[in-house]
Amino acid sequence: MSPDTSSSMMDDLLHETRVFEPSDEFKAQANINDPAIYEKELADPEAFWAGFAEELDWNKKWDRVLQWDPPHAKWFVGARMNACYNCVDRHADGALGDKIAILFEGEPGDTLTLTYKELKREVCKAANVLKKLGVVKGDRIAIYMPMIPEAAIAMLACARIGAVHSVVFGGFSADSLSDRINDQQAKLVITADGGYRRGSIFALKPTVDQALGVSPSIENVLVVRRGEGDCAWTDGRDHWWHELMAEARDECEPEWCDSEDMLFVLYTSGTTGKPKGIVHTTGGYMVHAYATSKWVFDLKDSDIFWCTADVGWITGHSYIVYGPLANGATVLMYEGVPNHPEQDRFWRIIEKHKVTVFYTAPTAIRSFMRWGEKWPDGCDLSSLRLLGSVGEPINPEAWIWYHENIGKKRCPIVDTWWQTETGGIMITPLPGITATKPGLATRPFPGIAAEILNETGEKIGVGGGLLAITSPWPGMLRGIYGDMDRYVDTYWSKWDKGTYFPGDGAKRDAQGYFWILGRVDDVLNVSGHRIGTMEVEGALVDHHEVAESAVVGKKHEVKGQAVAAFVTLKEGIEASLEKETELRNHVAKKIGAIAKPDSIIFTAELPKTRSGKIMRRLLRDVAEGRALGDTTTLTDPAVVDQLKEKYKDD
Ligand code: WTA
Repeated sequence: MSPDTSSSMMDDLLHETRVFEPSDEFKAQANINDPAIYEKELADPEAFWAGFAEELDWNKKWDRVLQWDPPHAKWFVGARMNACYNCVDRHADGALGDKIAILFEGEPGDTLTLTYKELKREVCKAANVLKKLGVVKGDRIAIYMPMIPEAAIAMLACARIGAVHSVVFGGFSADSLSDRINDQQAKLVITADGGYRRGSIFALKPTVDQALGVSPSIENVLVVRRGEGDCAWTDGRDHWWHELMAEARDECEPEWCDSEDMLFVLYTSGTTGKPKGIVHTTGGYMVHAYATSKWVFDLKDSDIFWCTADVGWITGHSYIVYGPLANGATVLMYEGVPNHPEQDRFWRIIEKHKVTVFYTAPTAIRSFMRWGEKWPDGCDLSSLRLLGSVGEPINPEAWIWYHENIGKKRCPIVDTWWQTETGGIMITPLPGITATKPGLATRPFPGIAAEILNETGEKIGVGGGLLAITSPWPGMLRGIYGDMDRYVDTYWSKWDKGTYFPGDGAKRDAQGYFWILGRVDDVLNVSGHRIGTMEVEGALVDHHEVAESAVVGKKHEVKGQAVAAFVTLKEGIEASLEKETELRNHVAKKIGAIAKPDSIIFTAELPKTRSGKIMRRLLRDVAEGRALGDTTTLTDPAVVDQLKEKYKDD
């Protein structure tokens, strides 16, 4: 499949001539402002990464920077370190002990701060609680939490004792949670009774209880009390976090882990019905998260850094927890939605806490645009000095709005391309160097080698094709949990075994800048969240009245993409509006509300090739109201005409 180069976004980009240079003032103070860095690192990327590694604390130094046996990499071979020690102890025990590490604002408006010293005490206590519950190095721990400081504390406590955390986004359903727990045979779940969202408490514990009905590997559940505390309880299995924390010692030696010991597993959607447990290890990941936080977000001692992602996604892992804390930064964490109690909540938070660096997703920016300028205009945003974007392609219109209304034309914007699999930022401007263009992620981070290739692996200098990463990088995934074959097949088999295929289409301009166009596989990006079409199809056919389904993405003004489903009901079942609602809810129940189809079109038949393959491209054309492509291979062309008619009526 090739990227959709006919899209209006592409046309916009083709005509994009606006260039934004960082100001002299920004350049002068930037952590990196010498363009020669791009040539220097090219000469010796391993030395480049080792330079950042030297800035972290190791219990034993590496024998070799990289061992590359394509497609298997080891970074900082033979070294030992602890990720939590690097994020917490070295600051707590040093000059930054009384600096605020985590600055939390709950949705109801409550705030809490933790200095590095306080964070260390909390993390040590939590680590001792885990030990008391029998957790040892290498055990897998599921974390299913709202956006509260305990989520970060839980992650760091796991890292401290060498346990492997697996954070599951709090919006996922019981089935999704139990699938993830079972896949890695997790031993313990850390959760909360609930969290605040849109003014009320959404319960998490009942979902955990339901999941555990089919997840026998779980021995204990630790429950943070964030809500009213009135949840069902299984004695012996369930424990209140605050009760065990109150009894726990506040000192705990960190476990010195091998550089290649697993740090976490994070599940993400792929092109099959089964999510992939992406495996990240310790040393290389930490170096990558540390280096990119330092240079891309230009972190200084005085910064208040706010990344609006949830810790349930990779962005939260790398740029709320590991990267900024390794840099000794102050990180803001916000629990709730951007429009509670009103549409200016984010801007009020920036004003109140004097946020300096703000990192969010294009889908959020498009919502802000829709709500109007009056909301940011009513707040003092003068503390901001740098803006970031992540998760999906940013359309130039949203980029310019962000630049003018939030950055007030003063703040550079870093549009950062990366993935759960890459661990850290890969293609991005460096804010003190790069002249940016709206919509363009610009250049690979120094030390990263990217190209545009065609299907057969030929390099495309200027023009469109498939994005490829042509040499290993420290934060790269080391595998898919329990499925090395799928790792090799999915990422390293498109071209040669040393070239990584991210699944994105991209284009490069004459200046060598990359424009990322989005997924070229059956993965959707809905509001910056990855959703596999096959997963949604699986959830639909799981319904006892559904015979067959096909799911595609269609453009959506705010979400980027929306889920469009085509469904064939079983013989004798009537299509109706009620049925549509029932099926949409069924998907939410099976996967989570984020995967709910926006629309369902009922059809007696799906368009298929003579060999029986569903013609998704054609369905995408129908869903987006485009002229149809080639229909000559279709078994029954009338099917498509009927679908188009139905779509018009819908
Ligand atoms: C998309 C999120 C264009 C891309 C960090 C990628 C982007 C997928 C950008 C990974 C960007 C992320 N410009 N597209 N700046 N950032 N993407 O794993 O399609 O949730 O493959 O990681 O998001 O999503 P994931």
